[in-house]
Amino acid sequence: MLTNRGFDLWSDTYDTSVKKADEKHIYPFAGYARVITAIYETIMNQSPAKVLDIGFGTAMLTSKLYDAGNEITGIDFSAEMIKVALSKMPTANLIQWNFTSGLPPALSHQTFDYIVSTYALHHLTDMAKTNFIIQLLDMLNPRGAILIGDICFRTRNKLRACQEACGKDWDNDEFYFVFSELYENLSVLCHLDFHEFSFCSGVIEIHHI
Ligand SMILES: C[S@@+](CC[C@H](N)C(=O)[O-])C[C@H]1O[C@@H](n2cnc3c(N)ncnc32)[C@H](O)[C@@H]1O
Repeated sequence: MLTNRGFDLWSDTYDTSVKKADEKHIYPFAGYARVITAIYETIMNQSPAKVLDIGFGTAMLTSKLYDAGNEITGIDFSAEMIKVALSKMPTANLIQWNFTSGLPPALSHQTFDYIVSTYALHHLTDMAKTNFIIQLLDMLNPRGAILIGDICFRTRNKLRACQEACGKDWDNDEFYFVFSELYENLSVLCHLDFHEFSFCSGVIEIHHI
């Protein structure tokens, strides 16, 4: 699993490596651009919005939202990713924080129209992801949405089929979303929908009941 230092080292080549993997339509980034565009367009329908991005990285998504006049807050644990993101979004509220410890105290009592996270939450175990999303629901405005774009599968069987096809390229240190299981854990608390964008990617959309 990559530490914050690992992400620091990846920060200057991240955009190109992701783009290449998406263009070749290979795991893990097949569908990346479509995922980012879908989230961008959803938020732009309600713009200007107050947006929290968890694991914003080089701000591929949030810098576009920032340029379009949305108010951006973000959390990331990599100092170098934060540097790249700050160069694109100088007045955004970017907080260095490790989300395995939950949410930063600086965000207590804040609420958001959209809480987004792309290609970051698969570093949490399934149980930790569920608990983290429950915390996020408390920070979501009544008509807002949590939009999670990630390596994601509708069912465990689909994940297993991808794992088998990927062979040694599969990353055993990551915990990818299985929508049907997340639905089972959370559907008493919130509305959940799944939008598939490639054989290994999708957007999970969560609203208050
Ligand atoms: C694969 S990048 C995705 C970046 C961006 N969201 C995107 O879609 O291009 C994952 C990002 O999440 C951050 N990240 C990973 N684990 C984290 C953690 N435990 N706490 C905070 N940030 C984390 C990394 O530093 C990195 O910037």
